[in-house]
Amino acid sequence: MENTTDVLVEELMSPLPHVIHPDATVAEAEARMRDAAIHHLPVLEGETLVGLLTARDLAVAANVAVESPASMKVRDVLTSRPVTVATGTKLSDVVATMLDERVGVVVVVDGPRVVGIVTHHDVFRHLGERALGTAQPSPEEIRQRVLDEHRRIAVLLDKVEGLARQLIGGDKGADPLLRRSMFELHEVMRHHMAYEERTLLPALRDADCFGPARVAAFVREHQAQRSMLENIATELAATESPERLAVGVIELVRAIRDDMETESREFLDPDLLRDSVIRSGFGG
Ligand SMILES: [Fe+2]
Ligand SMILES: [Fe+2]
Repeated sequence: MENTTDVLVEELMSPLPHVIHPDATVAEAEARMRDAAIHHLPVLEGETLVGLLTARDLAVAANVAVESPASMKVRDVLTSRPVTVATGTKLSDVVATMLDERVGVVVVVDGPRVVGIVTHHDVFRHLGERALGTAQPSPEEIRQRVLDEHRRIAVLLDKVEGLARQLIGGDKGADPLLRRSMFELHEVMRHHMAYEERTLLPALRDADCFGPARVAAFVREHQAQRSMLENIATELAATESPERLAVGVIELVRAIRDDMETESREFLDPDLLRDSVIRSGFGG
């Protein structure tokens, strides 16, 4: 069995974390944390990480505020210079960083881009699951679930692509339907990629023919899809030119289809999965 501390931060992190703008009010930040049941929000100005807002920051603000704390701005109460780790960092180094810096949370960055967040809870859970042997559903369960989700995504992609083509063809009525379907696709893909990263990735990483380089490629592909999804989601809210957006949607549909095909061909091979799971000591 491989050393459990060798796993990469991508496998622990919550990808695509909720974030907040420094000019948001403390009340807004509180509401977002409550709704998402989280205790930390990376603070982003554009794409730049300017701080981290923790539930503790909010509690401190509530205690020291002279005026109504809810109307204070996030920038007044945030923790500046949050501790970051780069994608590709090993679990052992993440733990060392948390201990050295005396923090319970680190923000994961890929170059200038925030891609995830890791709390000590994530680390405990990961180590605990490994220790107890409960980390993984059986390879066949993973395979079936991923394939099942791919089938559902394929249906949604057909629908989205059809609407985009209608819009390009001049049918303005397709616009609101496309927006709604894109929102749905965004949510479905977010959960799907998170599931794959949590289960498929750890199951595959020990297989002979997989290895770290392909793990990195897998994660990069997901990041590319995430940023395409994010861009389209942002444009959906703002764009004046739905036809241009439709072209981007068709491109995204193609990228997701390609990814699903690659995954079915290369990553969902039952022998590969079984082999890797036996070798890494997971039950199943
Ligand atoms: Fe994927
Ligand atoms: Fe997938």
